[in-house]
Amino acid sequence: MHPLLPLCVFWLLPLAWTLEEDTPLDCVPRRSVPYHRDNAHLFHEEGVFNYSTMLLREDLDLLLLGAREAVYALDLKDISKKLASVKWEVTQRQKDECRNKGKNPETECKNYIRILHQTEDNRMYVCGTNAFDPECDYMSYTNGKLTLEKKAEDGKGKCPFDPFQRYASIMVENNLYSATSMNFLGSEPVLMRSSPVSIRTEFKSSWLHEPNFVSMTQMPESYMSEEGDDDKVYLFFSETAVECDCFNKLVVSRVARVCKGDLGGQRTLQKKWTSFLKARMDCPVLESQLPYIIQDTYRLCDPQQPWKDCLFYAIFRSQSDTSDLSAVCAYRVSDISKVFAEGKYKTPVPVETSFVKWVMYSGDVPVPRPGACIDNAARKAGINQTLDLPDRTLQFIKDRPLMDQAIQPIGEKPLLVRRGATFTRIIVNQVQAADGEKYSVMFIGTEEGTMLKAVNYNGEMFIIEEVQLFQPPEPIKILKFSNVTGQLYAGSDYGAAQIPLATCGRSLCCMDCVLARDPYCGWDIVVQECVLLSNSLRGLIQSVKEGNASLCPGADPVKPMNQSIWPGGNLKLRCPSPSNMAKTSWEQDGSPLTPSTRLQLLRDGLLILNATDSDTGRYSCLTAEHSKAGLFTTTVAEYQVRVAPGSGDRNAILPWAQMDGPSVAGLQAVVVLLVVSLLALLAWNFYKGHIPLPWNCAKKNKEQSQENHEQGGLDANQDAVRSAAAEDKPLVSGANNGHSSNHTGGEVAFSAAEEESDGQKVTLPSFQFIDDESEI
Ligand SMILES: *[C@@H]1O[C@H](CO)[C@@H](O)[C@H](O)[C@H]1NC(C)=O
Ligand SMILES: *[C@@H]1O[C@H](CO)[C@@H](O)[C@H](O)[C@H]1NC(C)=O
Ligand SMILES: *[C@@H]1O[C@H](CO)[C@@H](O)[C@H](O)[C@H]1NC(C)=O
Repeated sequence: MHPLLPLCVFWLLPLAWTLEEDTPLDCVPRRSVPYHRDNAHLFHEEGVFNYSTMLLREDLDLLLLGAREAVYALDLKDISKKLASVKWEVTQRQKDECRNKGKNPETECKNYIRILHQTEDNRMYVCGTNAFDPECDYMSYTNGKLTLEKKAEDGKGKCPFDPFQRYASIMVENNLYSATSMNFLGSEPVLMRSSPVSIRTEFKSSWLHEPNFVSMTQMPESYMSEEGDDDKVYLFFSETAVECDCFNKLVVSRVARVCKGDLGGQRTLQKKWTSFLKARMDCPVLESQLPYIIQDTYRLCDPQQPWKDCLFYAIFRSQSDTSDLSAVCAYRVSDISKVFAEGKYKTPVPVETSFVKWVMYSGDVPVPRPGACIDNAARKAGINQTLDLPDRTLQFIKDRPLMDQAIQPIGEKPLLVRRGATFTRIIVNQVQAADGEKYSVMFIGTEEGTMLKAVNYNGEMFIIEEVQLFQPPEPIKILKFSNVTGQLYAGSDYGAAQIPLATCGRSLCCMDCVLARDPYCGWDIVVQECVLLSNSLRGLIQSVKEGNASLCPGADPVKPMNQSIWPGGNLKLRCPSPSNMAKTSWEQDGSPLTPSTRLQLLRDGLLILNATDSDTGRYSCLTAEHSKAGLFTTTVAEYQVRVAPGSGDRNAILPWAQMDGPSVAGLQAVVVLLVVSLLALLAWNFYKGHIPLPWNCAKKNKEQSQENHEQGGLDANQDAVRSAAAEDKPLVSGANNGHSSNHTGGEVAFSAAEEESDGQKVTLPSFQFIDDESEI
């Protein structure tokens, strides 16, 4: 049983909680879970980097993972198990050629696997940058072995030359749709379909202008279509706006789409898309002048609903250097498709000699409608394929692929905004909560190697938790979800990680389980655990919309822990909070405790310095957390503190001191030495006329606290806290020291104290604290 479990007592304070009118612009995760190897199944192979391409083969129970010069076949249920691998390295000749063209032999002149798709015959199609000379091949998995067929197909237009360039691709009915650069210089961006007759975009800045490709997806729009419409492929990207009347370059987000049946035109637009249409996508974040830039998208479709009800979730980041905001916006596919099917076009109008202005086109639009797929109306007019389209229609679309209207998100505002930790990738999963409603849970990878889990509850942004997946923090470069295993798979330069949709066990008491508002989790009264809704046969306590913890039963009172301290000694009473949103307060013998220089409130506890007899008593640590349903207060810990007179039973009170008897003398010697050297330094500095104290104190403090740590006795030492927490149930340690994860090791007590809001006040007393402890 976890030591904190019996400490979870709660009661509801009947305080009125006035709802804030405006939700704040950005949102803070309720729980921060620092890195721990048990947070996720991890895969990493020594000396191999850039694990940024993934293919789920649920039919084979495999996760195919593309890295630099290698592809791995991992067990889909536990990716730390490698089942097979195959190397795909560049030859010395290729490397030399790449170097001769001015590329870096150690980074750019390698083979980065960029494309991994399943083909209809159940093989796989693989492409790599291949030392700035992209190449594709077929790969199969048979008898537990991965084999490349060494077909050496040209990868131009399918796979980027430059491993640092973003690209997008999907495989539809054995045709590869790819968005990347076609040439070595990266100056010829294309959206291309590699089929017996390859079709691509025009090289015109009105089609693609310095684009940054983000993602691609298909929509089965022909399914039960009354108009006899075609399926579509959507492409998301950002590019320099051609339509902007501005002096500076302005980047905008775009969605473009093409029809699957497009074969190009007969004379005009030969072997080019006749159906390439694009529109601007907005994600309006308050306070922002410049448009936000799209980073990734996820298509969320309910299998029971028609395609029109599918949503695209997209993440955006600010384009201004001064802002570190990221946002999520969601779009209805029907809204996007309506703009393309019925919206106005933009048209270039020359003003002055060399300047073009893009305005709404208000003249006659040819029939069939430019950019439309071949539908029943067109077929009736004898146009069975795009090759039959009249020149008027083709010339129109060749000059005007941009729609006038921008696509607005649902609700015309973001679902989530967060400051710091830039969003990189997103997955959305729909789950039915205990209230019978379906909620869309957003899983968002960040630049710092963390995974956010967030929900928008009727307009309220809520981040359930942020989990550190990779250490050192590496950006998450790919994110996939398998609905067969119910697991998320994330890739970074350093390795890959697999995590479940929910780890309910992070909540140790009912109140925390309910206030976490995780739609996957609920409190089981019988076993007294926070468990997965999907695994439970019983009714669970859950309140995702309100966070109503008053549904929880009263728990047993907290058992106080006995602590003893010397007069003049120091003591830290630990009180970790599971939530970043909870406020901690202390009571001594039932009355509120006011912090002072001697009684310091830390984030994870209370520090009693230079104890006196008046410090004897019962200390209760309370945390209070607001939810929509009210303010919930719980006693997290209780201590019975005794200030022991005399020194006779010193060893009985402080057992670690007993074990380290001889070293106490040693320590005293060290202290004496330090004091002597300090005095010497002081004298020297005094002689030199410096102001010596702060530096000397800090140094001395550090050395001594390390010694304390070796003895394993000083609770206030951050390292000690961390390692102690790690020995417990690992995921809980997040709650204990969520904020300390960004410290490098070896930090000492005063830094923890300095972090507190009243940090300025905390200087000398805490140094003194260290000194005192070491003297024991
Ligand atoms: C590959 O990984 C290495 C090591 O983490 C990193 O420095 C490099 O930028 C990565 N290269 C690409 C193309 O992402
Ligand atoms: C289009 O298809 C119909 C029926 O399949 C055929 O009768 C017609 O001639 C075709 N039109 C053209 C222009 O090929
Ligand atoms: C998810 O799983 C269901 C069956 O469990 C399947 O019908 C559906 O196609 C799957 N969806 C995806 C996107 O794989």
